Amino acid sequence: MRVAVVTGAARGIGAATVRRLVADGCHVLAVDWCAGADAPYPQGTEADLASVVSSAPGQVIGHVADVRNIAAIRAATDRAIQTWGRLDVAVAAAGILTGGTSLWDAPASDLALAWSVNAAGVWHLAAAAVPAMLAGPDPAGCRFVAVVSAADHTGLFHLAAYNASKHAALGIVRGLAADLAGTGVTASAVSPGSTRTAMLDRTAELYGVTTDELVAHQLLARPLAPEEVAASIAHCCSPLGGAALNGGVVRADGGFR
Ligand SMILES: NC(=O)c1ccc[n+]([C@@H]2O[C@H](COP(=O)([O-])OP(=O)(O)OC[C@H]3O[C@@H](n4cnc5c(N)ncnc54)[C@H](O)[C@@H]3O)[C@@H](O)[C@H]2O)c1
Repeated sequence: MRVAVVTGAARGIGAATVRRLVADGCHVLAVDWCAGADAPYPQGTEADLASVVSSAPGQVIGHVADVRNIAAIRAATDRAIQTWGRLDVAVAAAGILTGGTSLWDAPASDLALAWSVNAAGVWHLAAAAVPAMLAGPDPAGCRFVAVVSAADHTGLFHLAAYNASKHAALGIVRGLAADLAGTGVTASAVSPGSTRTAMLDRTAELYGVTTDELVAHQLLARPLAPEEVAASIAHCCSPLGGAALNGGVVRADGGFR
């Protein structure tokens, strides 16, 4: 049985990824900070995380940890290994949106928060998970996946801090893949388009538009479902499909324009 750790797992794309990995036969440690209302906008809650756990009794453990804290993320990966004896998959889906103004009007805290969650959080999961993958029974089947964004390749209006952090997250994946050369472990990124989650609602709120107007940037002309993005993430996590995807980004965006 393969074992996975997924961050940002209480809701949205992270929660859908947990459910998909379970369907693919994994045991999953589902990590979320469950900050609730103690954040710039409401985050996943302990009740959300509990409902992800109860969707797959015996196969998912909920674990509250903040990806900004590397010691807490090491404790999370240690718990997965102590419980199930190995670690094969790590998905960094935790993310936060800061912005809503021009860069020069944004508080420095916008960059600090986006950086610490969206970039450092990816680094922390890689630093905690990869040594266990390399020491485990099947490094060639091990996969690291970071969830990035169109903000990894495009300058999105009034989201400069988020842009910076997502470009950095992709840079971390590229550097990690280079460091893993020849080990069999691969690292890739998945860039979702507008996906029906709380973050999409927050994006529309920051822009003062409807989610339908955001989705106009998608050739698919509708929001993606979290499950559709999770299917692309699960493909990157799979032993066979994920082997050829290394150091690059899969655009699960319905066609971005
Ligand atoms: N929804 C979209 O349209 C969209 C588009 C592009 C990229 N993304 C990316 O997809 C990923 C998932 O986003 P989503 O749309 O599901 O958003 P979401 O807000 O619904 O879920 C994000 C989850 O991450 C958790 N989280 C945030 N900060 C954390 C931290 N410091 N430690 C641990 N957990 C933390 C939240 O509590 C929440 O449960 C993010 O990385 C986001 O940037 C989303």
